[in-house]
Amino acid sequence: MRAMAQFHWDPATYRSLMRSEVPAYDELQDAVAAATKEVNARRVLDLGTGTGETAGRVLAVHDGAFLVGVDESDEMLTMARQALPASRVELLVSRLQDPLPTGPFEVVVSALAVHHLDAPAKAELFGRIYSLLSDGGRFVMGDVVVPENPEDAVTPVDGGYDLPDSVKDQLRWLGDAGFDAAVAWQQGDLAVLVADRRA
Ligand SMILES: C[S@@+](CC[C@H](N)C(=O)[O-])C[C@H]1O[C@@H](n2cnc3c(N)ncnc32)[C@H](O)[C@@H]1O
Repeated sequence: MRAMAQFHWDPATYRSLMRSEVPAYDELQDAVAAATKEVNARRVLDLGTGTGETAGRVLAVHDGAFLVGVDESDEMLTMARQALPASRVELLVSRLQDPLPTGPFEVVVSALAVHHLDAPAKAELFGRIYSLLSDGGRFVMGDVVVPENPEDAVTPVDGGYDLPDSVKDQLRWLGDAGFDAAVAWQQGDLAVLVADRRA
């Protein structure tokens, strides 16, 4: 994504930029939220909350749930604070490579953020997510991936900041972490992976 080449985000233009560069942006977000529905969530963790687009959708399908959001950008979280119900969220400036908030969580979500980590860091993050999920909990990740067909690689990526991997590799790393993982939705180089921690 072109904005990623700038290595920072402008919260004011983020929404319109994403919708122009990722035409299926809203579908991806809706698919992430829908994939959390069958889990009864009291506590949700959102990794890479940004302006709150993912968090707002997930809260909307989990009445009474409380969401902890993590993002390295205070500017993006300032926008999220304005968009999300203050009584239902705690938003923390932190990196995904740093220790995650204390669990347990029934649901962990992440949209368009994990692809900023390299392959070993993704695999390591999946292990940490597994350990803070409750039994029967679910991790849902919607992100840009390296598609099987190179012609499907349509999302603009910057080689330094955007580090997508294939669905196949990420399913393997999720399995290595202990999850039962599968693809819930895919369109070209965008995919939503669902990873369950067995009850
Ligand atoms: C494309 S935005 C996605 C935001 C939101 N989840 C959405 O789908 O609209 C990526 C977000 O991930 C954050 N981010 C990128 N790398 C990160 C890292 N290593 N640790 C924490 N946040 C990170 C950025 O600051 C940005 O807010």
